Amino acid sequence: MTVATEILAEGKTKILRPGLSPNEVRVTFKDAATAFNGKKYAEIPGKGQLNAQISTLLFKLLESAGVPTCFVRAGETSSELVYRPLTMIPLEVVVRNYAYGSIIKRFDFEEGMPFQKPLVEFFHKTSDDPQITEALILELNLVPNQAVLEAIQLMALQINEVFLQFFGPRGIRCADFKLEFGIDPDGKLLLGDELSPDNFRLRDTQTGAVLDKDVFRLDLADLAETYRHLLGRMQGPATQAAPPTRLHTYQAEVFVQSRKSILNPESKAILEGLHVLGYQSVQTLNAGKRIVIQVQAESLLAAEKQVRQVAETVLSNPVIEDYELRLKP
Ligand code: C5P
Repeated sequence: MTVATEILAEGKTKILRPGLSPNEVRVTFKDAATAFNGKKYAEIPGKGQLNAQISTLLFKLLESAGVPTCFVRAGETSSELVYRPLTMIPLEVVVRNYAYGSIIKRFDFEEGMPFQKPLVEFFHKTSDDPQITEALILELNLVPNQAVLEAIQLMALQINEVFLQFFGPRGIRCADFKLEFGIDPDGKLLLGDELSPDNFRLRDTQTGAVLDKDVFRLDLADLAETYRHLLGRMQGPATQAAPPTRLHTYQAEVFVQSRKSILNPESKAILEGLHVLGYQSVQTLNAGKRIVIQVQAESLLAAEKQVRQVAETVLSNPVIEDYELRLKP
């Protein structure tokens, strides 16, 4: 069997090649380290392999928690992974638990200060990656619709919960990280890109030691040695007890509507009534129901699972109805 060497795309730190089937792409992690929008650059032997290994560990962690990702399996070489092909959404989605980096330049936060609630910020992937509002994301059609934008926000917060639970007991503060999302050929939203310390701020909880790309940005330590140390801690057991599981209350809304192809007698009756009352301008109408739910769960992922189950099995009839879920963190 011959493996294609054709390059589909090449970025600062990764190369994309065709996979063995149309449902796969091969991603090679390069040894390149870049910072300050490419102004700082170095070749660091072993970095590609370390980032592929760390990404694999975190993609598997997320998949086992129920987060849909592009990860299929490790590749032919130790610096290669196999992904599902995605149409990428041109957004960088940053989640912050503590104040570091650009947010302390933009706002008057003390470095290292914890936020009351995790923050999600959006940046437009262009030459200088400006911060962007939700209204502008929709105006520029960077996502297919508002529901996808809401799903990205929810997934980012769910991923954050998984990371906090993983890093915390290993004595590592997960201060912030950047995610990218894409749509697969079936129209499903998946987490894409990579999950390496290039895209995180990770600090030793006890010593404050820097365990991410800031070691390269700020010339603090050897990058490969730092990443190797981090990988060892990630592969090792938790060194501290996990915090006791706490239940949180989440608000959810479930919208149930008949499928477009199904004639809904209630909709028909309302439409006819409107026409009798002189509202001829109303052309179509699809009546549905909105159910507001409060649910107790230990995480946003667990809450979503519970509400989906209720929506699918009790609140809607899957043969003739569709439902939409909105979960509020
Ligand atoms: O620079 P800033 O504080 O906004 O970065 C927040 C997080 O996003 C950091 O973990 C950083 O490594 C990551 N990031 C990234 N790629 C960018 C910008 C930020 O991975 N282009």
